[in-house]
Amino acid sequence: MLGANGRTGSQLVRLALERDADVTAIVRSEDKRLDLEDDNLTTMLGDPCDPNFLSRAFRGKDVVVSTLGGRTPTKTATSVYYRSAEAIVEAARDTGLKRVLVTSTALLFPPRSLLDRLLPMIVRNTVSSARKMEQTLAGADISWTFARCGFLTDKDVTNYRAEIDHLPGNGSPVSRKGLASFLIDSIEHPDAICQVFGVSGPE
Ligand SMILES: NC(=O)c1ccc[n+]([C@@H]2O[C@H](COP(=O)([O-])OP(=O)(O)OC[C@H]3O[C@@H](n4cnc5c(N)ncnc54)[C@H](OP(=O)(O)O)[C@@H]3O)[C@@H](O)[C@H]2O)c1
Repeated sequence: MLGANGRTGSQLVRLALERDADVTAIVRSEDKRLDLEDDNLTTMLGDPCDPNFLSRAFRGKDVVVSTLGGRTPTKTATSVYYRSAEAIVEAARDTGLKRVLVTSTALLFPPRSLLDRLLPMIVRNTVSSARKMEQTLAGADISWTFARCGFLTDKDVTNYRAEIDHLPGNGSPVSRKGLASFLIDSIEHPDAICQVFGVSGPE
């Protein structure tokens, strides 16, 4: 789990443990360690953009889920999308890991409104880094799933709507818990392999 201490990532770790999965949480430093005790939880400290570190983390694992994302829209912060994708691909090649799910932005879908046209100009670094991330993963020999979403909320709601190649309905915000549920539900779902999903909240 890359981005394990993030707001969506920590929800995902909790949900995965509830489903009896063995989880390795990757965080950058000791102070980012999750405040969670579970026999099925291992924590590794390191840089998720370092392929050598990821190779060590991926060995013997079935799937990697990344909810990494820049905390500000600067070029440097948003570069974590594509830099981690490049490292994931290299480490997956090295270890034979085949299943990767990542969060991305719904701004990569064709615009449906004026706001959809304006926002990519405002957060162009996010959009270009997310595009590069998706292209890097889609070009690799792995079974990928992209979860593109619009705005995220911290509501205590696990429901979500997900549709292939577009945001469902009016593209309402989705809770981080709902996004985490979508990712967990998709891990073993054959229909999710090599698909781009738009993920929204319930109507
Ligand atoms: N916020 C929204 O409305 C929105 C909309 C569309 C898509 N998304 C995407 O949805 C996903 C989840 O969002 P969120 O708000 O739950 O995320 P978040 O709480 O901001 O967590 C981001 C995670 O990425 C890590 N990270 C950021 N930069 C890093 C770097 N340079 N190196 C290593 N780790 C780095 C953070 O670790 P540290 O704590 O160590 O920094 C943290 O674990 C992200 O991919 C985000 O881009 C968000």
